Amino acid sequence: MRKPFVAGNWKMNKTSAEARELVEKMIAQLQDAAAVETVFCPPFMAVATVREALKHTAFGLGAQNMHWEEQGAFTGEVAPKMVKEFCEYVILGHSERRAYFGETNETVNKKLQAAQKNNLISIVCVGETLAEYESGRTREVVSTQTSLGLRDVAPEYARSIIVAYEPVWAIGTGKASTGPAANAVIKDFIRPAIAELYGAETAQAVRVLYGGSVTAANAQEFFTQPDIDGALVGGASLKVDEFVSIVKSF
Ligand code: 13P
Repeated sequence: MRKPFVAGNWKMNKTSAEARELVEKMIAQLQDAAAVETVFCPPFMAVATVREALKHTAFGLGAQNMHWEEQGAFTGEVAPKMVKEFCEYVILGHSERRAYFGETNETVNKKLQAAQKNNLISIVCVGETLAEYESGRTREVVSTQTSLGLRDVAPEYARSIIVAYEPVWAIGTGKASTGPAANAVIKDFIRPAIAELYGAETAQAVRVLYGGSVTAANAQEFFTQPDIDGALVGGASLKVDEFVSIVKSF
């Protein structure tokens, strides 16, 4: 059985002090939600503070990105072992990083290798843009991102990867996909691409999330789909009541 998983990607929002206040309010209301693995992904500057707030709780902590090199002259970057000092999870290949910061399937894969080496659980994002969606290229784009992004790790590590299907046209637009449409992309394109790399059993074991304008009002539509194991939440993860209600929708 795949355990339900919900992560809040706070993107570039919240100072360290604001992050502490937000996460404390959320965890106070989520004490009875142990059935869902819940992970907070604040910006780097707030990671240490949120770690403090999560001490002695079962909630997870994730970084939003990292570099693949172990250390060195890479001004402004954060190394895997620096992430590992505080976090258990790392988001890789978010569409905003692909669109604005030159992330490619190749760099996503280098980061995945580094995450494996440093015992970080990877949340790998895939998803087509509006233009790709409108020109009927969803299968090609999502399959390629999955095959190239997820390749060449050990089978046991592959099983631990979490994939987030985030159609770019649904991110921050208020126009979420539908449960059946997102489920179909995951079932027909993402899991088969994983099966090709690591076999059918691993493809069924890997957790796949939906992301893109998930709210308290539509979460259930996604969570009741057989191939959707949870959500990667952006905007709604900055609002206490919304996020709490999304996690409790399972
Ligand atoms: P929104 O929930 O704001 O659409 O963002 C989704 C996302 O990009 C999560 O990583």
